[in-house]
Amino acid sequence: MRVIVCLPADDAVPWLDLFAAALPDARVERREPDAPVAAGAPRADYVVAACPCRTVFAEQPAPKAVFTVSAGVAHALRLPNLPAGVPLIRVEDAGMAPQMVRYALAAVLRAALRLDAYAAQQRAARWEQHAPRAPASLAVGVLGLGVIGGEIARALAAQGFAVRGHARTRKAVAGVRCCAGDAELAAFLGGLAVLVSVVPHTPETTGLLDRAALSRLADGAHVVNMGRGSVLVEDDLIALLDSGKLSGATLDVFRAEPLPPEHPFWRRPEIAVTPHVAGLTIPEDTVAQIAAKIGRLERNLPVTGVVDRERGY
Ligand code: GLV
Repeated sequence: MRVIVCLPADDAVPWLDLFAAALPDARVERREPDAPVAAGAPRADYVVAACPCRTVFAEQPAPKAVFTVSAGVAHALRLPNLPAGVPLIRVEDAGMAPQMVRYALAAVLRAALRLDAYAAQQRAARWEQHAPRAPASLAVGVLGLGVIGGEIARALAAQGFAVRGHARTRKAVAGVRCCAGDAELAAFLGGLAVLVSVVPHTPETTGLLDRAALSRLADGAHVVNMGRGSVLVEDDLIALLDSGKLSGATLDVFRAEPLPPEHPFWRRPEIAVTPHVAGLTIPEDTVAQIAAKIGRLERNLPVTGVVDRERGY
């Protein structure tokens, strides 16, 4: 079996060694992302796109599957010549969910405990206590109830928050009021004190969190975006912070990454900016997951995480 891993020479992660160790019977080869197309290159059974690789599919028109090493796949769907009938398979959790649960808990607890308001008071040397808010009195919404969103919703419910979730299709998460589809989006958003978005970038989610959607949240609500930057209309968020409708935001993902130095988000004290770190790929877990899926595919067994290219995720 031949496995090609597209990976720049200077990548810090020893992807090649990890794949070679996890697939001892395979020939695992590195390919420079933009290496010139080699006519007559031997056919690979699997391609791992560990970086944007612009020439590999001109050489490899028919692998059995293509793997990403991230949960998001928008970049992979744009790769030139990505073969149409071949399964594109994304990372599912593989150690990302626990990280993202911790990030979401930190952001929601920060908002619930009004730590931003107290930070502002500290800058003004103002001693003023606000009434504590019981978690059950705070509606917290998780937009996106996939593997990761479901874990986040469960963890927030365990803290006692009044948790709602929203997904395209009806999901069941214990202790969480689950809403589904466009028809229930307004009811999901209505009156939320904290909104946590973990939805991926797709044509359907682009610009979903615009002024109209965000205006449905409770007055003084806090917005957490840890899915994809394209989901949030950034100017609308700023306008709603300026108007006082929203009190703050915790943002890990942005329309342009790295976030440009001149971007207004950097200079807003009520916005916490982190550089796309809420759910980092854990190489060992990711390779183990991909190797297990290759094992299943070789035995003609179904695998999960196959991207629906129409939907974009
Ligand atoms: C992280 O954002 C990922 O898509 O894996």
